[in-house]
Amino acid sequence: MLQTPSPSPAATLPLPELYRRVEHHIPPVEWPILANDIAAILKLKQERNAVVLAHNYQTPDIFHTVADIVGDSLALAREAARTQAAVIVLAGVHFMAETAKLLNPQKTVLIPDLEAGCSLAASISAADIRLLRERHPGVPVVSYVNTSAAVKAESDVCCTSSNAKKIVEALGVPRVIMLPDEYLARNTAAQTRVEIIAWKGHCEVHERFTPEDIRSLRESHHGITVLAHPECPPEVIAECDFTGSTAAMAEFVGKKRPARVVLLTECSMSDNVALEYPDLEFVRPCNLCPHMKRITLPKIRRTLETMKYEVTVEPEIAERARAAVERMLALG
Ligand code: 13P
Ligand code: SF4
Repeated sequence: MLQTPSPSPAATLPLPELYRRVEHHIPPVEWPILANDIAAILKLKQERNAVVLAHNYQTPDIFHTVADIVGDSLALAREAARTQAAVIVLAGVHFMAETAKLLNPQKTVLIPDLEAGCSLAASISAADIRLLRERHPGVPVVSYVNTSAAVKAESDVCCTSSNAKKIVEALGVPRVIMLPDEYLARNTAAQTRVEIIAWKGHCEVHERFTPEDIRSLRESHHGITVLAHPECPPEVIAECDFTGSTAAMAEFVGKKRPARVVLLTECSMSDNVALEYPDLEFVRPCNLCPHMKRITLPKIRRTLETMKYEVTVEPEIAERARAAVERMLALG
């Protein structure tokens, strides 16, 4: 299972056993270099009383060896709220670290690279939301967690790709503003009677998939099962076999065991899931997220050595942003 706390946290396993987790992905010649950083990270985690939370898009060397908790955005937010550790290292992008900080104002939250952003989070500002509210008075604002804390602070509630429909419907209103991902908004609108006013933000990774990609995959790979993240355009979702958050896609593979499968999402996702199911064939046209790929083992090691970069949120923004995240966690 990809949404943990991991059943066997990496810190408790000897290095050769950790290598067995990734041996189908990392050649033996590369392991000694990685093992050096991994051993240092495991030791530093204990010394600092730190946990590493890793998103499903992190590379297998991070995901399968040093992460204590792995999952989708919702799982990482939930687990961040639960952890007893003093320090949280977020192996993911900036909005994920900010969300962890909002839920843990007392703890130190570190991100290994401050430039690890997100095209969706960059597509909207707090001022944009104030204008939207003027244009649509009284309509609640549902913000995807892929937003800055300042945007969350202007929102009524947050959502993730795994609970968007539930949150929109839980508000009990006929219309909502859902931002910033136009495609997630349109894909959610297709599943509910609630009218959704969307924004024009897109994920630079998922907007590149097309229905033609699916058609040519079905032609070239007979019987393939196509899974797609809901940040893909609606025309792509219309032709796939299953859509869901990164965790939902991993769960689908685990439960249904499709003999031949493609995950239309970020590349490391398939790499991580494939290591858990070596008997299944993973076809891999995928797109890299340049922001997620800024996080590396050496940078995680440096973060724990230097305690940089600490993620903070101004108290006035934090209070309102936290309310939107906590409302989401309470609703679903
Ligand atoms: P998930 O919440 O589905 O993991 O998605 C996060 C993300 O950034 C997808 O691009
Ligand atoms: Fe943002 Fe897309 Fe990268 Fe996810 S994959 S972090 S939505 S740019």
